[in-house]
Amino acid sequence: MSTKQLNVGIIGAGRIGKVHAETLAFRLPEVRTLAIADVNREAAQALAARCGIPTVTESSAAIFANPQIEAVLICSSTNTHADLIVQAAQAGKHIFCEKPIAHDLGQIDRALAAVEQAGVKLQIGFNRRFDANFARVRQAVVSGEIGTPRLMHIVSRDPAPPPVSYIRVSGGIFLDMTIHDFDMARFLIGDEVEEVYTSGGVMVDPEIGKAGDLDTALIVLRFRNGVIGTIDNSRQAAYGYDQRVEILGSLGSIATANCYPNQAVVSTGTEVRQDLPLNFFMDRYTESFASEVRAFVQAVREDQPTRVAGIDGLVAVVMGLAARKSYDEHRPVRLDEVR
Ligand SMILES: NC(=O)c1ccc[n+]([C@@H]2O[C@H](COP(=O)([O-])OP(=O)(O)OC[C@H]3O[C@@H](n4cnc5c(N)ncnc54)[C@H](O)[C@@H]3O)[C@@H](O)[C@H]2O)c1
Repeated sequence: MSTKQLNVGIIGAGRIGKVHAETLAFRLPEVRTLAIADVNREAAQALAARCGIPTVTESSAAIFANPQIEAVLICSSTNTHADLIVQAAQAGKHIFCEKPIAHDLGQIDRALAAVEQAGVKLQIGFNRRFDANFARVRQAVVSGEIGTPRLMHIVSRDPAPPPVSYIRVSGGIFLDMTIHDFDMARFLIGDEVEEVYTSGGVMVDPEIGKAGDLDTALIVLRFRNGVIGTIDNSRQAAYGYDQRVEILGSLGSIATANCYPNQAVVSTGTEVRQDLPLNFFMDRYTESFASEVRAFVQAVREDQPTRVAGIDGLVAVVMGLAARKSYDEHRPVRLDEVR
């Protein structure tokens, strides 16, 4: 392993850029963030001041042109990812890119081809693979602790829907929200999904329907190895962020519960209750965001493969497109119809 610090640049100083910049600054002494770029200069400046980043720029080109920078974290809006991956790869930088790579398969192909050609590393931001609960479930599958998996259930409900202005450009529920669950399904079972069937509706807010999207969906997955799975999504759960999985195997099952801000249970003469779960992804997945970036840095420094590859970014989008097609056409859709 290299003993010198890894020099990185960050593109995008919004919500997720801030999370990753703070991990690099305060938790990874083996990394130096040399520059941060955002078209919103004030956002970049504020984050640079907070995290001690010496260079602020409005243009990602300045980051790609800096020969000291070995790796970049692409944390800008989704519509910029594919072009930035191509430019970073052509500049010989290793790449961590937030999900999704793009909404369009042609754009993803173009980005992955550039990465392949440049021979740089690429990790996609499917942070939930690094969550301790879900990693434990995967371990139970890999070790055979629950035998051969038969059924898998993912419950993934947000506390409240995003603004409709976001939904209009997000690619819809399957590409902005379920995409994490598609990746989780593949990760947990360790096999590919062949076919999906979606039942969905608009039950939370009619404006979401008017924007062409759904806010409630149940997706049945059929894996190549025979496992049957479900993904249960809602853009609104009155009690907060609901993130659970269960797998039933031939020798038993494994299930995870939600994460809570405390373990206290209040018992009175009329009820037994506890506080609501951690409210949204920033709180619930804090540690996994740090772990994924640590793993990326380690892969670069030790010249190892990344733990979430470009193909994982591609397949999750294929699944999202197939899920939408299934809803539109009221029938099971094989992934190879989309790809
Ligand atoms: N893994 C996760 O759980 C997770 C969570 C949130 C967001 N994301 C992903 O991260 C990405 C950013 O989301 P966000 O919530 O931080 O959005 P955001 O709007 O808060 O931040 C995006 C930032 O990118 C900047 N930007 C836009 N175009 C740019 C360009 N060409 N060059 C430099 N900067 C540019 C914007 O000015 C903004 O500051 C999205 O792709 C989103 O899907 C992933």
